[in-house]
Amino acid sequence: MARITVVGSLNLDMVMRAERLPMRGETLTGGVFSTAEGGKGGNQAVACARMGASVRMVGKVGNDPFGDRLVESLLREGIHAMVGRSGGHTGVAQVTVFGDDNAIIVAPGANLDLKPWDLQEDHFKDATSAVFQLEIPVDTVSRGLRMARDMGCLTFLNPSPLKPLPDEVIGLVDYLVLNQVELTQLGGTDDPDLSMGRLLGLGVKGVVLTMGSRGARFLSVESSGSVEASRVEVVDSTGAGDAFMGAFAVMISEGHSMEEAVRFGVTAGSLACLKAGAQPSMPTREEVEGAMGRL
Ligand code: RIB
Repeated sequence: MARITVVGSLNLDMVMRAERLPMRGETLTGGVFSTAEGGKGGNQAVACARMGASVRMVGKVGNDPFGDRLVESLLREGIHAMVGRSGGHTGVAQVTVFGDDNAIIVAPGANLDLKPWDLQEDHFKDATSAVFQLEIPVDTVSRGLRMARDMGCLTFLNPSPLKPLPDEVIGLVDYLVLNQVELTQLGGTDDPDLSMGRLLGLGVKGVVLTMGSRGARFLSVESSGSVEASRVEVVDSTGAGDAFMGAFAVMISEGHSMEEAVRFGVTAGSLACLKAGAQPSMPTREEVEGAMGRL
């Protein structure tokens, strides 16, 4: 069984479903409101757990009811919640869902209080892999990558939302999973092949370019290829990238090939679009395996 430590953000998502985004200065009525557990870190932790991995989640929430709700939800998923409390408010995301798309504003709050010195060897001890995103401070991610490497873990980074990353930090990553904008920035060119090649040159073992409804492309030291996504009736695409990341990380951690892991990730991402909410929409392993043939 893969043992995965996820270091990252926990947000409560305030979701407004609307026909379209309002224009500047416009008030749009007729929205439908709900809340859901979210945050890229929490979402990826839930995705890994539902794929059958044993998961530790390292993060920070505020001393408030949103924080209680997020921690309780992780525990219900069977995740070992190594979640501290800070003086700031729990992270909140304002998510607008319109058509197949979404637009998100995050107020990170306590997520920014997860500091490098909060990371302990215990967080990574005996883990197969460690998974990071960028909704927490970059210094914390760099230290976490270094600690995870030193402790023999495979390291995964989803550099979202994008922030400048020194090459030596990228060099601590075994598997990078990113979208076109992130690839252009980190790879230094808008040619995906050149950019992916450049990232491998920094020491990354495998790079995956996620392309939403168009699937994903990958390049590793041993292989390259692409996987198409099947067409699905999108209910809510929030968290689809996180579903990909979780499923991909679990498959690689179990020793599967890049192509198998990307195929699994693309299917998990498609399934996550079929349900509302970020964490509530993460598919189980049985659902992904069942859909592999069908979709
Ligand atoms: O990736 C989706 C997530 O981004 C949402 O759950 C929201 O909390 C933001 O962090």
